[in-house]
Amino acid sequence: MPIRRGAWLCDTVPFALEDAGKSITGPALRALTVLGIETSCDETAASVVRGAAPGPGLILSDIVFSQLEIHAPYGGVVPELAARAHVERLDVIVETALANADIGLSQLDAIAATEGPGLIGGVMVGLTTAKALSLASAKPLIAVNHLEAHALTARLSDGVEFPFLLLLISGGHCQLLGVEGVGRYRLYGTTIDDAVGEAFDKTAKLIGLSYPGGPQIETLARQGNARRYALPRPMRGRQGADFSFSGLKTAVRQIVQSEAVSQADLAASFQAAVIDCLVDRTRAAIVAGGVAANQAIRGALLSLAEREGFETKIPPPRLCTDNAAMIAWAGVERGQLGLFDAAGVGPRARWPLAQADPEPLGSEPAGALDASSGGEPPTRQD
Ligand code: KG4
Ligand code: ZN
Repeated sequence: MPIRRGAWLCDTVPFALEDAGKSITGPALRALTVLGIETSCDETAASVVRGAAPGPGLILSDIVFSQLEIHAPYGGVVPELAARAHVERLDVIVETALANADIGLSQLDAIAATEGPGLIGGVMVGLTTAKALSLASAKPLIAVNHLEAHALTARLSDGVEFPFLLLLISGGHCQLLGVEGVGRYRLYGTTIDDAVGEAFDKTAKLIGLSYPGGPQIETLARQGNARRYALPRPMRGRQGADFSFSGLKTAVRQIVQSEAVSQADLAASFQAAVIDCLVDRTRAAIVAGGVAANQAIRGALLSLAEREGFETKIPPPRLCTDNAAMIAWAGVERGQLGLFDAAGVGPRARWPLAQADPEPLGSEPAGALDASSGGEPPTRQD
């Protein structure tokens, strides 16, 4: 079936963050205008962002095409279908992002795209497109770690200064990270089994909801009784900062196999258990990742911050789930530090932000993404 140009875009309205204009002129560095491309999973997205560290940035356009309808019949993302859909839509989405920002390629300072981690076919599509645009326009290429983009989003939305503690809750991760600077991450805690978004998705499947599970559970939980089913709170009260969610999922499976369940009550009970686990392990100032779009989780973390007396920032939901504005913003931050990439850079399926590191804050991070300071070579090696 022929694709009508622009017909599939679920959002073509550019929006600016309220006080974005305020700090566009960063202290020493010139503001940059960057096109970002995100294709690591089942969203095809492009965005133009202008700004300077530490933010906030100005989102000139932000287009996300969700492939949800394509994957829903299969109960999860089908990598081959995802890659094909990225190929079919990306050029229109990039064109629209540029048009909505009222900007031509020649007015950009750089072109950023996700280099990984993600589904390799999709990442290849976005990165190759960025390389082609970079070559054609003679603008530098910036290959972005998708997790770094999530980590830096609170700077795009709220101008949060380094360092900060981050709770990253997404489809593939549940981590507490020290964010010391661009490319400088320290892992304090991580899930020992399922990621929190994965737990939402698997639980949704168990109770008969369609993909993706997170938003479906959130919606259903609003009408449910969270006390109806007694579910475990794995790791609660334990030393350390690690998380675990597979026991919770197993408990849901046992309930589903042993009785006729109320979907709403089970969804509410599950969500309440996840919230208890997150609140127990977290004293984080900043939250990021798709699961942070969940209103009940946002509310619980905001109340926790108020109770415990720490400041918190959670970017708006549309910047928590996958989007290209965060990729463009990571491009702004990396571009300001001169961290550009050569055309030989390749897609990566796996790419952790940081390894566990017991050393105290302040020493050089081991296993971190490449350091941004010290004028190191502008080209990253795999
Ligand atoms: O950050 P993200 O968009 O993609 C990854 O980088 O993984 O996160 C996707 C995950 C999925 O597991 C999805 O079910 C979950 O975030 N998610 C939610 C909500 N919206 C997305 N989980 C709970 N409540 C939501 N409203
Ligand atoms: Zn993501």
